[in-house]
Amino acid sequence: MAEKQGESVGQKLHEFAAHSTVHGVSHAWDIKRSGPRRVIWFLLLLGFCAFFLYVASDRIAKYKSHPIGTRIRVIDKKPTDFPAVTFCNMNVLRKTFIEADEFLLNVIRALKGDPRSTVNVSDPELRRRFDEKYTMGDIFKKGAHTPNTTFTKCIWGGEDDICHLYMTPYSTQMGHCFTFNSYDYVMQHGSLQANRIGVEGGLQLNLNVHQDEYLYQDFKHKSAGFKVLVHHPFTWPLISDLGTAIAPGTETYLAIEEVLVKRLPSDFGDESSCVSTDDPSFVNPLEFIEKYSKEGCVYNCLVKYVIHGKGCKCRPWNLHANNITDCSLGEYLDCVTIAQYEFSKNQTFLDLCDCRDTCTEAYFRVRKSEALYPSDLALGEMSAKEGRDETYFRKNIIDLKIYFESLSYELIEEYESYTLTDLQSDIGGNLGLCLGASFLSLAEFGEIILLLLTSMFKKCIRIETRATPETR
Ligand SMILES: *[C@@H]1O[C@H](CO)[C@@H](O)[C@H](O)[C@H]1NC(C)=O
Ligand SMILES: *[C@@H]1O[C@H](CO)[C@@H](O)[C@H](O)[C@H]1NC(C)=O
Ligand SMILES: *[C@@H]1O[C@H](CO)[C@@H](O)[C@H](O)[C@H]1NC(C)=O
Ligand SMILES: *[C@@H]1O[C@H](CO)[C@@H](O)[C@H](O)[C@H]1NC(C)=O
Repeated sequence: MAEKQGESVGQKLHEFAAHSTVHGVSHAWDIKRSGPRRVIWFLLLLGFCAFFLYVASDRIAKYKSHPIGTRIRVIDKKPTDFPAVTFCNMNVLRKTFIEADEFLLNVIRALKGDPRSTVNVSDPELRRRFDEKYTMGDIFKKGAHTPNTTFTKCIWGGEDDICHLYMTPYSTQMGHCFTFNSYDYVMQHGSLQANRIGVEGGLQLNLNVHQDEYLYQDFKHKSAGFKVLVHHPFTWPLISDLGTAIAPGTETYLAIEEVLVKRLPSDFGDESSCVSTDDPSFVNPLEFIEKYSKEGCVYNCLVKYVIHGKGCKCRPWNLHANNITDCSLGEYLDCVTIAQYEFSKNQTFLDLCDCRDTCTEAYFRVRKSEALYPSDLALGEMSAKEGRDETYFRKNIIDLKIYFESLSYELIEEYESYTLTDLQSDIGGNLGLCLGASFLSLAEFGEIILLLLTSMFKKCIRIETRATPETR
């Protein structure tokens, strides 16, 4: 019985080799072939085995690196949500408001470093007098340009309308600005929608720059006109950095096109780590801004540095931080301006906030074109009608049109370019090509190994049962 079992191991191996679906194996073990032929078959088998292992490890490494592909599609969407548009005058404070108060005028002049100022802003007595009457936030809010004088005409969707209804004031780094179709507006009334392409389906505005009111500009600007930023309502307007400048005396067309970017979420590979705001477990990490966006995060980072990093215990006039008291003149000069300057000079602070893109992000491509406005012909007529000097119109008036170029959006989508299925078919293909094998051939190997193991196990048990009586 034992001898029979012992024989069958060899037999089993031979049987396996002869019938193996891995082609080389049966040839190499075929006893009817001559020795050298079998050796060559054996070497070929080994060579292709090695080649297959090389290819398989290469494919597995490729799969593990999570390669990402990008595809672009154009998708029709009608009606399309109109973007938010933020308008900032290059001037922050109105001259008539400041000049009405001699003391205020002197302080503002001192802030600008104007030699005509008669006060010293470092003087504690002056600061005390100032703080009794005003806060920095108040002055910048009340002194800002008002919507009723800025937007002199407004046509939305082909109908004459009152702009104020759609405009929300926003504090940005360029002072108090106005946003059309803002986050607050969209949350209350839903987004405004465009039903048709071209100027008639968009927003048409007349803006008055009011150069006669120019008094105080932020340190980045020395020009006259507006900064305009077309953005998604849920994206914070970083207008000082990203806005398009519009000059007075022009008819300006901003043709917009929506782009939607979908990135793969952060658990897929390390490089594409985006913030998955659509995830139900997502919690907005921003302290001062309601809705997460990369721009919002950058802005939040600045406010966080001013208030927590630098420890200014007040709200800077141009920053959006509810629940924190307005700055006094002293706090503003000694803390906030220094903190803002440090933040803008040192990239480390922004890097520490680690602001990432959202996984689904909509942005707008803007194409700008412009013509002189008003024409010489129209200028004469307008000046006669309004009783103003001709130069007034060239210096102050902007005719602005913002409209969709097409009612579709471009979808840029990332996808896994090498999936588990791809890996499996690559390995399967190469297994077949190199060895003529399939997964079932692997099962054959498994079967023979299992058979050998069981017969060896049985043998061991038999030897042991035979050995135990002798030792006693
Ligand atoms: C302004 O006041 C500060 C503190 O009182 C003083 O050190 C400084 O010299 C003054 N500057 C001028 C120009 O008077
Ligand atoms: C514009 O609005 C402000 C307050 O919002 C008001 O004081 C001012 O009189 C208005 N101006 C005009 C020309 O209507
Ligand atoms: C606003 O301030 C109060 C009092 O300091 C605090 O209890 C509250 O949590 C704050 N709210 C927010 C949104 O920070
Ligand atoms: C930027 O800030 C970091 C952190 O406070 C500091 O370590 C670094 O030296 C600063 N870099 C410069 C150029 O000031």
